Amino acid sequence: TPTPKFLKSLPKIELHMHIEGSLEPELMFSLAQRNGIDLPYDSVDALRQAYDFSNLQSFLDLYYQGANVLQTEQDFVDLAMAYLGRCQQQNVRHVEIFFDPQTHTERGIAFETVINGLHRGFMQGKKQYGISFELILCFLRHLSEDSALNTLEQAQPFRDKITGVGLDSSELGHPPEKFERAFAAARAQGYRLVAHAGEEGPADYIWQALQLLQVERIDHGVACTEDPALVQYLVEQRIPLTICPNSNVRLRVFDTMADHNLRELLDAGLKVTLNSDDPAYFGGYMLENYQNVQNALSLTQAQWMQLTANAIDASFASDGRKAALY
Ligand code: HPA
Ligand code: ZN
Repeated sequence: TPTPKFLKSLPKIELHMHIEGSLEPELMFSLAQRNGIDLPYDSVDALRQAYDFSNLQSFLDLYYQGANVLQTEQDFVDLAMAYLGRCQQQNVRHVEIFFDPQTHTERGIAFETVINGLHRGFMQGKKQYGISFELILCFLRHLSEDSALNTLEQAQPFRDKITGVGLDSSELGHPPEKFERAFAAARAQGYRLVAHAGEEGPADYIWQALQLLQVERIDHGVACTEDPALVQYLVEQRIPLTICPNSNVRLRVFDTMADHNLRELLDAGLKVTLNSDDPAYFGGYMLENYQNVQNALSLTQAQWMQLTANAIDASFASDGRKAALY
């Protein structure tokens, strides 16, 4: 049966990680000091104690507040490098990173500051650690479609640095259909497409993401089991689901890890991958997700190998890089 050593040694591929959600309290405090920003917490411990969430929105409120300390290109370089240091320790070999430009442009930070900092950081990590990467720009779904289209225009000069476009933030009340034109525009520009759907929202939002946005992966998607016809479609079309176990428990999508539907998803033959989502806020990185899943759900060695192969197949890496990851 899979040992802790086995879990640690598995080559890991992360496909669902928001870089703003990798901002650890220690780095948040040091960037706040560097940039002369006041945080509404007295200490790192007081901040960590606030990470007790009741749903997605209660997390997002703190996540957007935390991102305010990110001001300069160097801040984004440091953020990327801090995350990659953790990846290196956990044998993460390839990462596909979400970033939320609107979180920064809405408070006066230039798009180019964000993308240039992140790209420089991940290039440095690739050189230093051999960890390959792709960047995925996410639209904030609580904002308007016009704001998303405007963000896509701002991304145009940096098209070669951005692999894909996704959709995140408050799901309920902001269905995928709201972004049909923005995703059509992204598709026309050759971006790979993904969307968060079926995290807190219903199975119908997953259908919308597939049929209206034409995404090729679903982020979360745990609500699919409400709809057997949807599960059958996802299996037949081999649509990957980027599952985030710790996140789902911390945001109360499931009461405990033992209640998570991961085994049901695997048993249905879905192309499941495991990911950390917002590791600084949800109690850990890839390995901590693997460990918590194993402790609660006791997967077999074959299932762990399947999850690893699924992530390689589902990634946007080049065929050459995928072959090297196997
Ligand atoms: N869901 C939606 N939006 C997000 C998340 C999430 O899990 N993490 C960061 N933004
Ligand atoms: Zn997410």
